[in-house]
Amino acid sequence: MSAFNQETILSVQHWTDTLFSFTATRSPSFRFQNGQFAMIGLEVDGRPLLRAYSMASANHEEELEFFSIKVADGPLTSRLQKIKEGDKILVGRKATGTLVADNLLPGKRLLLLSTGTGLAPFASLIKDPDIYERFETVVLVHGCRQVSELAYGERLVDKLAKDELFGELMKDKFIYYPTVTREPFRNRGRITDLITSEQLFNDSGMPPLDIATDRIMMCGSPHMLEDLKVLLETRDFTEGSHNTPGHFVIEKAFVER
Ligand code: A2P
Repeated sequence: MSAFNQETILSVQHWTDTLFSFTATRSPSFRFQNGQFAMIGLEVDGRPLLRAYSMASANHEEELEFFSIKVADGPLTSRLQKIKEGDKILVGRKATGTLVADNLLPGKRLLLLSTGTGLAPFASLIKDPDIYERFETVVLVHGCRQVSELAYGERLVDKLAKDELFGELMKDKFIYYPTVTREPFRNRGRITDLITSEQLFNDSGMPPLDIATDRIMMCGSPHMLEDLKVLLETRDFTEGSHNTPGHFVIEKAFVER
């Protein structure tokens, strides 16, 4: 049996010159936990060309969704950005990843910290009703250079807020905090600085970071992840994994090319 399912592209949406998202059919046998990733890609010259992509869709959804960057000379994304409805993609049969709720110790507030396409696993997780059972508050932070890069996340949150089931679940529990670093916006600054200065918490009317209540998932730029890890570890937060749940878990946003 092949390690991949062949899926059909159902829709493609371009958000900026560098960001796009697409949906695809999902083989009924493809199972994953919300927050996980799989190898996906295209057949190029008779061989699979694959990269790790987090599912942006939730595991209760019928279709798969992915959120990707476009890199002009990237081996995969230079090709993938041209896909159209009806085209075929390969999706690895096995999903994996650390951004799953079981890798975290029980807590009260879940902070989902992302930059760029690192938003993707959290797009899946915020569509998971279980997250709202486990945590009293779920905070989605998305940091980008430009305002236009927030569009995918803004649309997603807006749609969920209007959804019959999720609108109700999220009403008193969910906080969305988009932030921009390189042009004017209502929230400005890097996620690390917003935590250190407590501005993230002050702006949202929440108490500051607290190891007793806060659990953190992070996904995005490697520099951000390094800095956040140091920030958390100096406050005694420990990193969780499949064997040992902790206060925080990390996944880099994979697709760089
Ligand atoms: P900045 O514009 O100040 O570099 P990138 O596009 O390079 O992946 O960055 C995405 C977002 O992550 C940008 O807003 C960027 O801010 C921010 N970022 C980059 N490095 C760090 C870091 N070490 N800590 C926190 N945020 C970072």
